[in-house]
Amino acid sequence: MTMDKKKYDEVLAAFSISDDELQKISADFEAEMQAGLEGEDSTLRMLRSYVALPTGKEIGDFLALDFGGTNVRALHILLHGGGRYQVIKKAAKPLTEPGVYDYVSESATAEEMFDFLAELIDEAIESNRSTTYLLGHTFSFPSVQTDLYNAKLITWTKEFATQGVEGRVVNDLLKEALARRGARNVIPVAVINDTVATLLAAAYKKPNAYIGSIYATGQNTCYFEEFTDGSETPTVINMESGGFGKLRPTKYDRHIDETSEKPGAQHLEKMVSGRYLGEIYGEALADILGKAAPFSFTSIDLSTIVADAYLDRHEAAAILEEKTGEKFNALELNLLQDLAGVIIARSARLVAATFAGIVRHRAHGAEIKEQHIAIDGSVYEKMPLVAENLKKALADLLGDEAEKIHIVLENTGSALGAALAAAMTVEG
Ligand code: BGC
Repeated sequence: MTMDKKKYDEVLAAFSISDDELQKISADFEAEMQAGLEGEDSTLRMLRSYVALPTGKEIGDFLALDFGGTNVRALHILLHGGGRYQVIKKAAKPLTEPGVYDYVSESATAEEMFDFLAELIDEAIESNRSTTYLLGHTFSFPSVQTDLYNAKLITWTKEFATQGVEGRVVNDLLKEALARRGARNVIPVAVINDTVATLLAAAYKKPNAYIGSIYATGQNTCYFEEFTDGSETPTVINMESGGFGKLRPTKYDRHIDETSEKPGAQHLEKMVSGRYLGEIYGEALADILGKAAPFSFTSIDLSTIVADAYLDRHEAAAILEEKTGEKFNALELNLLQDLAGVIIARSARLVAATFAGIVRHRAHGAEIKEQHIAIDGSVYEKMPLVAENLKKALADLLGDEAEKIHIVLENTGSALGAALAAAMTVEG
């Protein structure tokens, strides 16, 4: 295969973001936050979560349902206080089992999906019908809330398409499914977004955690809004930052958007999250090779391609050959590895721009304080180049002040956070 180097350079340039452009994106993000908070037109939903940060004194026995990605988990958790907890029982299952079932496609109904969740919860409580359990539900989709229980799904994201859930109060659906199963002793009391769960879990364990983020199949961030002007009660805000739209998409991003389940929505998410990174690479590579149809790569393929440190790049070569049917020489393999790196770096830089925007918003023009940003998700945890690019971009954006921002992995968040939210309803 001979690659058109000029075309390759053009594609690479389209994915690069200069420091100046990144600053502008970060400033636009901060402005969109403010507009969204004030109820003005904004691509950020700024959804109120009706929950503050835990005190660290939350204790007791709770159930947690973690629902929002490819796997669902139900856990029975004992909170000991002071950041300590114990998982008593855990049940986990994928939402899709190829050839067997698929609860996220358009052909699945809300009842089928929530019956599946109820079954998993039942497994976590070992079919106990005599103890009353309060359940916290991490539901990782944009939901509009009126209180901690009442969360109505606005719209599916991450290519979920199950019928009959949009517009519904998700905990009502869960309650009905639990009743159908005879498990009325399980009482859903709280719904939180996974970003919120991550933040609550981090704040339970350490001081100065005000920002929680998910960088996985989907991408989104929440933060603790103090409403220093006294206009509202302090609360965690689920920004639905994956919807941020003041960006410069490439033609590949635009094509992915147009052919997605929800065209026109989740612009940032479609440029940065694990659900789409492989697709972006497949689109760009097809263009470089002059093919009309995009190749289908996953974000795991992308990780393998960039992680290949062998001199002959045989691991990358195997994936590239399998997906494109072409053989590449050593020089081309290096270039194609760099392309993957640039797509990943763009993702991390854009996420960093959102973080810098939130940190600045919270500082209200004063000095930035020492703080933790808690992140969960496979892209942050496992994809090569992500964590380092994120850190570097924060330094590019915030200069010396970036030293005060400590990004920490909080990978117990979705479950622990749900249990904490349930516990916080008891404390009032
Ligand atoms: C959803 C968010 C969620 C994020 C990470 C997005 O697609 O809209 O609510 O936090 O994925 O799971």
